[in-house]
Amino acid sequence: MLRYSLRNSEVAPGTGNVGDALADAPMKVIVFSSQKGGSGKTTLCGQLAVQADLSGAGPVAVVDTDPQGSLSQWWNARESDTPLFLKTQVEYLRNDLEQLHRQGIKLVFIDTPPAVTSIIGRIVGFADLVVIPARPSPHDLRAVGATLDIVEGQGKPLVFAVNAATPRAQITSDAAVALSQHGTVAPVTIHQRTDFATSMVQGRTVMEDKPDSRSAREITELWKYLASRLGRTDRRTQRLPFVGADQRQGQRFEDRGRAPAEAGQPARFGRRGFGNGPAFSRERTV
Ligand SMILES: Nc1ncnc2c1ncn2[C@@H]1O[C@H](COP(=O)(O)OP(=O)(O)OP(=O)(O)O)[C@@H](O)[C@H]1O
Ligand SMILES: [Mg+2]
Repeated sequence: MLRYSLRNSEVAPGTGNVGDALADAPMKVIVFSSQKGGSGKTTLCGQLAVQADLSGAGPVAVVDTDPQGSLSQWWNARESDTPLFLKTQVEYLRNDLEQLHRQGIKLVFIDTPPAVTSIIGRIVGFADLVVIPARPSPHDLRAVGATLDIVEGQGKPLVFAVNAATPRAQITSDAAVALSQHGTVAPVTIHQRTDFATSMVQGRTVMEDKPDSRSAREITELWKYLASRLGRTDRRTQRLPFVGADQRQGQRFEDRGRAPAEAGQPARFGRRGFGNGPAFSRERTV
């Protein structure tokens, strides 16, 4: 029995039937990854998680695996009960995801640190879809390759999301073309808008602050697209039982499998989280 409250299928404008489409699907994991600092991992992770929840595709959980804790800060400033929040480390992630699955979570959004380490590889190993945000700048584009190697090395479906684009700038379409040589580019560009930053400082999102704004529309449309991609990856791949998800990892990372899930290690979820009594608290101390 879930011990946290869920908003009642509040549907944001223009969300269509995305929630319905995913309603009966098993739990899906979306990982936001990019070696480049500041590309928009945390911003897109938080904004899209809330939109997924608003669209009725939840219950949704957000998971912060970044020691910087930006997503945690956002969530701690948040008044709403949803999405559920968990801060964890890769060693505990498998157990944590299993627990989220058991508790009926449908979608998990995982934020990661700006790195291309074996840790990132192991987190990506749990993904059903990897979103790689990239600003339309030469630095971001150059940095994409290393992240791409990790994701492709594990055979994971990926989507590039062009973020913080300047409206009508040629470099935005150039960046999309360059990225499309390496993988699918989301057909929705997220533009540079102060709404994104200001809403998150207050623990909120653009959909909650300004539901009729362009920024809210962009996130709504991007979520619709990602939800459709999740549906597609489901049809394309023979999905293994969730518990074995990371067994699909490639052989690329030396330490794969060296950090077994700690059986019996109590997961510790958000203050409005769920679990078996006092072992569940706000976050696991890193
Ligand atoms: N589309 C956007 N419009 C305006 N500001 C943005 C946008 N996307 C991100 N930002 C801002 O850029 C900064 C970096 O974004 P964010 O923290 O999401 O990147 P990140 O990839 O998570 O960074 P890190 O790699 O350090 O974790 C933040 O201040 C955020 O508010
Ligand atoms: Mg971040």
